[in-house]
Amino acid sequence: MANPSLAAIDVGTTKVCTIVAEVGAQRELRILGVGVGPSAGLSKGMVDNIHAAIDAIASSVERAERASGTRILSAHVGIAGPHVSSINSRGIVAIADPRNPITDHDVHRALESARIVNVPNNREVIHVVPRYYVVDGQDHVVDPLGMYGSRLDVETHVVTSSTSAMNNLVQCVEGAGVKVESLVLEPLASGEAVVDREELQQGVALVDIGGGTTDICVYMNGAVVHTAVLPIGGLHMTRDLVVALRVPQPAAERAKRDHGHAIPSLVDEAEEVEVEAFGSEPKRQVRRRLIAEVLQARTEEMLELVLAEIRRGTEPEMLSAGVVLTGGAASLPGIDMLAEEVLSLPARIGRPRHLAGLSDILHDPAYATSVGLLRWALKEQAILFRSVHGPIAPLGSLMRRVAHLMRVVLPQ
Ligand SMILES: Nc1ncnc2c1ncn2[C@@H]1O[C@H](COP(=O)(O)OP(=O)(O)OP(=O)(O)O)[C@@H](O)[C@H]1O
Ligand SMILES: [Mg+2]
Repeated sequence: MANPSLAAIDVGTTKVCTIVAEVGAQRELRILGVGVGPSAGLSKGMVDNIHAAIDAIASSVERAERASGTRILSAHVGIAGPHVSSINSRGIVAIADPRNPITDHDVHRALESARIVNVPNNREVIHVVPRYYVVDGQDHVVDPLGMYGSRLDVETHVVTSSTSAMNNLVQCVEGAGVKVESLVLEPLASGEAVVDREELQQGVALVDIGGGTTDICVYMNGAVVHTAVLPIGGLHMTRDLVVALRVPQPAAERAKRDHGHAIPSLVDEAEEVEVEAFGSEPKRQVRRRLIAEVLQARTEEMLELVLAEIRRGTEPEMLSAGVVLTGGAASLPGIDMLAEEVLSLPARIGRPRHLAGLSDILHDPAYATSVGLLRWALKEQAILFRSVHGPIAPLGSLMRRVAHLMRVVLPQ
């Protein structure tokens, strides 16, 4: 029998990436095909032109189908944008008969009770992520299944989204002929792809700087404590270069990618580079250090906003493992050094790892979200379909419905 396969679509502000992967016996991912194309109809991570977005998604899906030789009927899809918000909430349930071990059903009841937070009727809950459990006062239980107790508490991270932004995204993906299997908050996905277990345990912040958004996920003691999506990204850096260098947007984008640096003092003061310009002279020489100065100013400002957001989750000093930077802008040389300076934390660039198959393009920080969507979906399925007394059950229609009702995973 063929291995089961999974598909994910990362609908970003600058690119759409679709990945099809096969899931091996050890739950390892073998990439069958990737389809990447320019994005359209999105601003700050949100759909603002449905028709343009449908075309961009359809073309990325078609490329992934051609590359993998498969037909993509459904996919796990990333959601981001400043409309997303999160809070931590506690759920409490009584165990009917404390002589019996705690079951999946008890855990689900506890999660359901945590989910009952005050959500206005124009918002939807998209995740109830368990952080840890408490069984009869015993704190920080990672997995309560099979334990005995009369009361089960769960500390969760609840993520909500604007209903209309969510519907627009679903409509675009379904308009491109793909059913949405689940929506996954992008910072949670990125973390799944690049943050390792030890970092999660010691405290770490994942910062994904994309084109239109900067996604943040803060982890402490192996669990999520805070998530946020800021409406800032690489497009702002490019726009600053348009103004400072007085060049067209595509030329500013090329100058950033080919000659950019986040630390001006590391760029030779005398070095000049050629850029395409407006007006009668088609090419102009600009000092490379000037490009770096513009990028440093904007990146520093963005990192300061990131720091303020991290503070909403925890004291930054508590993050012993520091920050992991992903997203396309993490490829800016020197950005890790600048992050260390602004955040006063160790920083590294996160690249998706442990992928087999046609995965060459994916070992890049810009693909952390796309790969993470697959990893998140895999983890979610394993949790939902396991049984205390037996092996993982096959994907039945009832469980599928449960999966849609409540998207849960266990903390690491
Ligand atoms: N070498 C580089 N130096 C600086 N910036 C870069 C480099 N390579 C790519 N970028 C920037 O990364 C950004 C795109 O990142 P990414 O692909 O993660 O965004 P996205 O997923 O499409 O958007 P978002 O997640 O914000 O919706 C662009 O602004 C691009 O200019
Ligand atoms: Mg992105």
